[in-house]
Amino acid sequence: MIAIYPGSFDPITLGHLDIIERGSQLFSQVIVAVLRNPNKTPLFTVQQRLEQIRQSTTHLDNVEVDAFEGLTVEYATRSKAKVLLRGLRAISDFEVELQMAHTNKTLSTEIETVFLATSNEYSFLSSSVVKEIARFGGSINHLVPPHVALDTYKCFTHNQTESNPIKTDKTEVIHPLNYPKSREA
Ligand code: PNS
Repeated sequence: MIAIYPGSFDPITLGHLDIIERGSQLFSQVIVAVLRNPNKTPLFTVQQRLEQIRQSTTHLDNVEVDAFEGLTVEYATRSKAKVLLRGLRAISDFEVELQMAHTNKTLSTEIETVFLATSNEYSFLSSSVVKEIARFGGSINHLVPPHVALDTYKCFTHNQTESNPIKTDKTEVIHPLNYPKSREA
């Protein structure tokens, strides 16, 4: 049975990867589907996100990565998928996710939404949290795959030039790209 794992993935986190890895054990194929959403201004282009996800899932033979626009159930039908896979982190997710699952059911009775409880260690984690931490120069190495961390630091380094350095409370000036590594040492 084929499952679609739809989302924004801006960027993919270890929480997403946890769901993909566990989903790949449950279904014959998992298609990670990045939504082209004209209403959002993402940090990464769809092409960058596809590449980030591909690099993160090379160890999973039955995982494919693709982009789509429009309705998820229509994409799922075209892909011959029977399942929409979603992760649930907390009660706050549940309300939104249940509404989405019910809406999708009205659009296609053929497709079921299956929820996986996100592993405990990632229950707080979101792409927004990752971007917020990176924007302020904090370490995201424990939250995303290494190549994604690098891409994200580069984005904020690019936007945050030397004229706008980060200062810690010790008034030590740290370039954003070096900040997390220097903290780890
Ligand atoms: O990672 P996200 O942003 O929580 O993913 C949300 C996503 C992409 C799964 C959802 O917004 C979606 O399915 N959008 C496509 C449009 C659609 O099918 N809407 C009807 C269901 S509400």
